Amino acid sequence: MIAPRAYSQVGNTPLIKLNLPETDNCASVWLKIESGNPTGSFKDRMAISVIGNALTRGDLTEKQTVIEYTGGSTGSALAFACASAGINFMAIFSDAFSDLKRRTMEAFGAEVITVSSHGRGITPELIQEMKAICAHKVKALDGFYADQFGSKDVVLGYEPMGTEIAGQIDQKVDLFCASVGTGGALMGTLSGLNASGLFPKTVALEPLQSPLLTTGRGGPHRVEGIGVGFYPPFLDDQKVDDILAIDQDEAFEMRDILAVRHGIFCGTSTGLNVVGAIKLAKKMSPHQNVVTLGCDSGLKYLN
Ligand SMILES: Cc1ncc(COP(=O)(O)O)c(C=O)c1O
Repeated sequence: MIAPRAYSQVGNTPLIKLNLPETDNCASVWLKIESGNPTGSFKDRMAISVIGNALTRGDLTEKQTVIEYTGGSTGSALAFACASAGINFMAIFSDAFSDLKRRTMEAFGAEVITVSSHGRGITPELIQEMKAICAHKVKALDGFYADQFGSKDVVLGYEPMGTEIAGQIDQKVDLFCASVGTGGALMGTLSGLNASGLFPKTVALEPLQSPLLTTGRGGPHRVEGIGVGFYPPFLDDQKVDDILAIDQDEAFEMRDILAVRHGIFCGTSTGLNVVGAIKLAKKMSPHQNVVTLGCDSGLKYLN
């Protein structure tokens, strides 16, 4: 299977050195801005890896339906990747998540099954119900389970992000930090940096309001995509040097500063990444470099 041509829309995103007054006299902060991907998110990288590699191996045939339970970001990326390959995609979704995400999935031709949250929002029970419906559909339709929390192709999909950064920065990367949901983006990018001969200190970030990694206790927070309430399945603590919890209020403020003062319109996990990167850069010297990720576009959150 040759990768669908539409997959060439993914990646080769810009790496920008932020001009931040906070980082005068300390390390430079670089942001890999991923909003230019087809669904406005770095998730497109993992979706083309999961679908493309499964097709190449023959684990997935073009007649099967790809099925996943999703809050919508991964679902949008999978809907894009499946549409490009001419494969049906079914998302097990819920009205607890943004309607914009349902509409995005449907725009790419996905069949969306919306599970009622009964007005209770995103609860562990709802997620379990979505997971059970997904497992049932996979069995009943002989479908292909994309497995966003387990597929090894998720981490592989982010490796090119690391090799791109290495080719763009032309200097040493002293520190790499990023917030974690599944941990796929952090570990995959690190692996790509390592493959390119760069071995930065690596720091995972999480919301202070849900400090599962730093204290063992999760909690409610408002930063979409990260701090998922369970240990990130792809996070390899042997390869991570430190974990830093960042206040979500600072993340929201930074998201707005990036848009208004720098023209970079991202989601809140990016705001959190930049706050973390600045805190770490302040402890470093001016000739050093900190790299972090601009996960997705702020346009995804406007409703
Ligand atoms: C907006 C956003 N930021 C960050 C992340 C974290 O990425 P990962 O799951 O690869 O750790 C996600 C994942 O869903 C996300 O949607």
